Amino acid sequence: MTQTGQLSVLIIGCGNIAGGFDAARPVDALPLSHAGAYRRDGRFRLAACVEVDDARRAAFMSRWEIPEGRASTRDLRDRVGQFDVISICSPTSAHADDMDAAIALRPKVIFCEKPMTPALATSEQVVARCEQAGIILAINHTRRWAPDVWRLRDQLQSGAWGAVRSAAARYTKGVLNNGGHMLDLLEFLLGPLSVQWAGRPVHDFWPDDPTIPAALVSATGVPVLLAVGDARDYATFELTLTTEEGLVTMEDGGNLWRYRRVIDSPTFTGYKALDAGSQVAGEYQMAMVNAVADLYEAATNGSSVRSTGYSALAAQRHCADIRALAAMTAEEDNDE
Ligand SMILES: NC(=O)c1ccc[n+]([C@@H]2O[C@H](COP(=O)([O-])OP(=O)(O)OC[C@H]3O[C@@H](n4cnc5c(N)ncnc54)[C@H](O)[C@@H]3O)[C@@H](O)[C@H]2O)c1
Repeated sequence: MTQTGQLSVLIIGCGNIAGGFDAARPVDALPLSHAGAYRRDGRFRLAACVEVDDARRAAFMSRWEIPEGRASTRDLRDRVGQFDVISICSPTSAHADDMDAAIALRPKVIFCEKPMTPALATSEQVVARCEQAGIILAINHTRRWAPDVWRLRDQLQSGAWGAVRSAAARYTKGVLNNGGHMLDLLEFLLGPLSVQWAGRPVHDFWPDDPTIPAALVSATGVPVLLAVGDARDYATFELTLTTEEGLVTMEDGGNLWRYRRVIDSPTFTGYKALDAGSQVAGEYQMAMVNAVADLYEAATNGSSVRSTGYSALAAQRHCADIRALAAMTAEEDNDE
């Protein structure tokens, strides 16, 4: 920590989520990137960055006023203990190596993009090694820091929506990449899930990460359907909870929500129906600001973060189960 109380930050990988998503946004807009959120918070100092592409690294250093830039984490090997927070924003295929480098640098916090690593076993090792080293590990399952998602979970737990009857989600762009976000959100809202069925994979975006339909069930018996779209048509990330008191729908990835309540049917006397509801702006865009505030508290007060290595592992285990079941289904189809 510097004399001003700021936490020093190293960012590894200088693309979209590192800062690019904020490049064209107005300066007063809520930040959607790591650098944007650290800068907005004010309690962090962007100390250094690592980026393999020389031009991108130079542009990133200039845009975010970062004094030190390196082409590889190997160039920082002798800087153990000098960074309080390390953001891993490189492509997922580089996360395992970057985690090795980050753990060796002994920061207080590692804030790693999702998916943590491509392989479940590697992610499990990463979580164990961070635990052993006393490093706080946060994974950017972004919606865990959106205030409206927290309020919804509180409402579900307090019974404000009555019993949850079912959940129906729809996603594209890979069971690990975007499915992982959805499975994490579902588990956050509904508690532990288990995978019951998986269907035919759709190869719609990532060569090594198909989008797979699946059915799950919560510990309290809530059925969960994970339906797919095809990213070549359009991207979708939406969720509807059917509850005793009405429908709660997340649209456009959480940028919009729609709440529909039970009313007396205006058409059929004695029947109950749903009102048309209203679409309200979501608070997804507050997530990155809240995430880095959470990291600050964790680093300085020892509090726990809202999205941990353990919560991310739960989602990644479901992805692995869904892939394994889909592969079994494909084998059975081939045998017929
Ligand atoms: N939380 C979210 O909603 C969200 C959104 C977008 C991306 N992501 C995740 O963020 C990560 C990065 O995605 P992106 O869209 O910003 O990618 P990107 O391609 O825009 O940026 C990645 C950058 O890392 C650089 N790079 C490659 N290998 C490197 C290495 N070994 N060390 C340092 N830099 C390296 C690349 O040159 C590039 O500039 C991925 O894991 C992705 O899944 C998460």
